[in-house]
Amino acid sequence: MKKLIALLLALTMIFAFAACAKAPAKEETKTLTMACSADFPPYEFVNDDGSYAGIDVDIAQAICDKLGYKLEVKDMDFDGIIAAVESGAVNFAMSGLTITDERKESVNFSDSYAKGVQVIVVKEGSKIATVDDLDGAKIGVQAGTTGDFYCTDDYGQENVSQYTKYAMAVEALKNGQVDCVVLDNEPAKAFVEANEGLKILDTAYADEDYAAAFNKNDTELLEQFNKALGELKADGTLDKIVETYINAK
Ligand code: ARG
Repeated sequence: MKKLIALLLALTMIFAFAACAKAPAKEETKTLTMACSADFPPYEFVNDDGSYAGIDVDIAQAICDKLGYKLEVKDMDFDGIIAAVESGAVNFAMSGLTITDERKESVNFSDSYAKGVQVIVVKEGSKIATVDDLDGAKIGVQAGTTGDFYCTDDYGQENVSQYTKYAMAVEALKNGQVDCVVLDNEPAKAFVEANEGLKILDTAYADEDYAAAFNKNDTELLEQFNKALGELKADGTLDKIVETYINAK
């Protein structure tokens, strides 16, 4: 009898232990927050119903699906994004972010997932025809972007108007407050398509690589992200996402 009780007790303990060990699996899925400035179609924009969409959002979602995280998008002004990653206010950022040496001092970048080109958008009939004509022109940019840095360096702060959102820079171009807007090629195409009387100049300003940005202390998440990104590249998912937004138009 004693032996039976001992056996039952042991079995109960094993079951209790197994139940405890299993418990973490029932825990809620962890959420990763991603910072972006959702004014940058086709990489990130807000749908009519208020939801976020775009190449960056879909890639982030695919990576979170692979890694078992829920994705939460945090829309903010572009010039606050690096600081948000640095302070840990968000887990990472995807926002058509160009890899630069200066930013590398503040954040870690993932492997690159896309290329960008800085281009010049002007009104049809503008006197500005090439990069060389930018001297003395009033240039509109989004604050804190590479376009902002290049133009400020090359043409001086006094000739550059910084806007928090690209749509504001485009408005300023339309009503003549600036002579051109310097921005990334794909968003430039989207803005020119959505606004009559604008065009993109043939001459490009600079070539860039886009990547996600991570907090310097979170190398574990960065590694997981790069691994998942590599798989999405290899199995064609990445190309498929890009095509949904770019080639299929
Ligand atoms: N590629 C440029 C940069 O990294 C512009 C990115 C702007 N992104 C945005 N979501 N508004 O500075």
